[in-house]
Amino acid sequence: MKKIGILGGTFDPIHNQHIEIAKAAYKKLKLDEVWILPTKLNPLKTNISATTEQRIAMIKLAIQDFSWLKLNQYELTTKEKVNYTIDTIKAFQKKYPDTEFSFIIGSDNLLSLNKWKDIHQLITLVKFIVINRPNFQPSISLMEKYHCQNLTLELPNNISSSKIRTGENIDLLNQDVINYINDNLVYYKERLKFHLTNERYQHCLNVGETAKKLAIKHHENPEKALIAGTYHDIAKQWPKEKLINYLKQYYPKGLSAPFNLYHGYAGALYLQHHLKYQDKEIISAIFNHTSGAVKMTKLELIVLLADKISPERNYSGVNELRKLAQKNLTLAFSKYLEILKVSLAARKLPLTEEFNSIYQTWHKKQVK
Ligand SMILES: [Fe+2]
Ligand SMILES: [Fe+2]
Repeated sequence: MKKIGILGGTFDPIHNQHIEIAKAAYKKLKLDEVWILPTKLNPLKTNISATTEQRIAMIKLAIQDFSWLKLNQYELTTKEKVNYTIDTIKAFQKKYPDTEFSFIIGSDNLLSLNKWKDIHQLITLVKFIVINRPNFQPSISLMEKYHCQNLTLELPNNISSSKIRTGENIDLLNQDVINYINDNLVYYKERLKFHLTNERYQHCLNVGETAKKLAIKHHENPEKALIAGTYHDIAKQWPKEKLINYLKQYYPKGLSAPFNLYHGYAGALYLQHHLKYQDKEIISAIFNHTSGAVKMTKLELIVLLADKISPERNYSGVNELRKLAQKNLTLAFSKYLEILKVSLAARKLPLTEEFNSIYQTWHKKQVK
């Protein structure tokens, strides 16, 4: 008889602790396989935010190295709005008659087992395997009542999936899953909203979309433009102290630049060091989005211009700049520098040496 353990959950996203639980069950219970069983998204639970396709893709990446670990999509394919474990188990037993199933739950679930549909029948069909969750010591009487088996695996701490989604703690993700989240902008909403007000969040989305359109127009990579544009201002509203400390840690040279450039540097470094983005072009586009530079790649120009012509921008000359950006990125940037120069003069703000050399360089390109 084949022995299979089932680990259900939303897996939003799947993380290393899920894999550790599966491994422990596989080894200690001498199972043939462990099935990862993602549940349908509960429409009332708004904190679930990856799409079903994204959750499946992340699970596949996280389990790819383990032949005994399988993804089972049964509950995602049924017509019912909500799946009950008893129905799933009955369906499995019908389909796989020579298999003994066990069902892995956390000790925190033990208290609510009495609310599970047909629990008394369910415990005759499967063995419940209980994993100790920190601060949820399993009650011996409940363990006996539901014929549960304790899997002696002490989890070090409770993993907060919401902290993984906001990007506060992604150490427990497999690098392939991290790359997938990054490349597909999974959890961009949580990641941005953790740092930004609604208004700034909306600006970031607008810049991402504008950058993507410009990239298509100018034959640059639209996905990279979308990512860099979406995250370009992630550090814009950090407190001054935090910006300074971040630069001290990762880019002390940047501290000598004007303060308004700090957020671009910090945002780029945050993507690189905390969110673990590996694409240098995306990082440098964010790094240089505020002031530009003497030398700029096409992607850098696109993200910078998208920021200056984003739909909610409303300053004198912006419409002309919008039209120009569709036609010629060099001319558009040069035009932007002219607008900026006039505006700085009007506000009696000094022109830095850095600004002057950028201005001269791009002005020459315009004349050519
Ligand atoms: Fe910015
Ligand atoms: Fe911006």
